[in-house]
Amino acid sequence: MSGIQIIGMGHAVPSVCVTNADMKKIVDTSDEWIRTRTGIRERRFCGEGESLATLAVRAAAEAIDSSGIRKEQIRLVITATVTPDYQVPSTSCLIQEKLQLPSGIPAFDINAACSGFVYGLSLVQALLPENEFALLIGAEQLSRMLDFSDRSTAVLFGDGAAAAVLQKKAGVPFYSHLAAGGNRSALWAASAPANRLPAWQNAEAQAERKEQSGGKPEDTGTYRIHMDGRSVFRFAVRALSEELREMEKQSGIPAEKVDQIVCHQANQRILDYVRKERGLPEEKFFRNLDRYGNTSGASIPLALYDLWNEGKLEPGTRVFCIGFGAGLTWAGACLTF
Ligand code: COA
Repeated sequence: MSGIQIIGMGHAVPSVCVTNADMKKIVDTSDEWIRTRTGIRERRFCGEGESLATLAVRAAAEAIDSSGIRKEQIRLVITATVTPDYQVPSTSCLIQEKLQLPSGIPAFDINAACSGFVYGLSLVQALLPENEFALLIGAEQLSRMLDFSDRSTAVLFGDGAAAAVLQKKAGVPFYSHLAAGGNRSALWAASAPANRLPAWQNAEAQAERKEQSGGKPEDTGTYRIHMDGRSVFRFAVRALSEELREMEKQSGIPAEKVDQIVCHQANQRILDYVRKERGLPEEKFFRNLDRYGNTSGASIPLALYDLWNEGKLEPGTRVFCIGFGAGLTWAGACLTF
């Protein structure tokens, strides 16, 4: 069996730290409410000169440096994100240009929300030839989609990026499972209806606005996150529990024996619910959501990065990664370091 293995990691944490006390100045909330309902203490937002692409590039550059390979050896670039700077080109192509990665290799983005990085692992496994190297990035700038008039969603999310360099090697076990169940109403982000008017019905007004702005490209609207918190909570608990069993079945490793379970960092209560249901110890479920909040596609690689940095992913370490989120999507992967 040939499987993928992480050989380098990098991350990029945005410059603005927003504590729950800071959040209280923006929305009607309290540190106590946020901590007890979610486990989040602070999150990071992009500041001056930072955006999704700048974070993704920083994380990717560090991952390549730490892997010990040359950037010319990268054969595939995939970015998991729901908050790209541009509709086109993809974030992966922006990274390719900025870091001068080889031309002529596949580079594209995927939208599987908070399951995006795990979806990406599976794609790398499928697309990468043996002994070659891929760059997989999870990056989000969710602060650009937050509705600060909705306190139940505004306090949950943050920005960040992390990246991994992977190699496909003979004899490395790798298992994954991807799933989705289409559901718009639980968790969605859409632009204001006015901005979805077809431009051809609006050509004159569009030309007028362009002239008034001195020829600047038009802002085509801002996306905002909407969520039915309770139904997403119920879905997340079920998805995490089922995916944990799926990974145990595929890998043959019982959850008690796996070294780490790295779940999407959405909410401490979701992780605790499944952990207690399965009678597993706290230390098995890595968490850093207290520092970053929910960073969607960046959350699993940010957690892996912290473990990597703490020296907890030594050769032979086996990790279940489990994602769940908008779509609805859910996914699991079993990595061996
Ligand atoms: N600060 C203070 N009060 C808040 C608040 C905030 N930020 N957000 C909501 N409230 C209030 C509500 O207005 C409500 O008040 P009321 O009882 O007077 O009407 C009360 O808190 C309870 O609201 P409710 O929405 O029922 O809270 P909850 O216990 O369901 O917790 C979430 C809300 C969002 C934390 C919870 O539903 C959740 O974690 N869902 C999953 C979200 C998630 O992880 N999504 C991403 C998955 S990828």
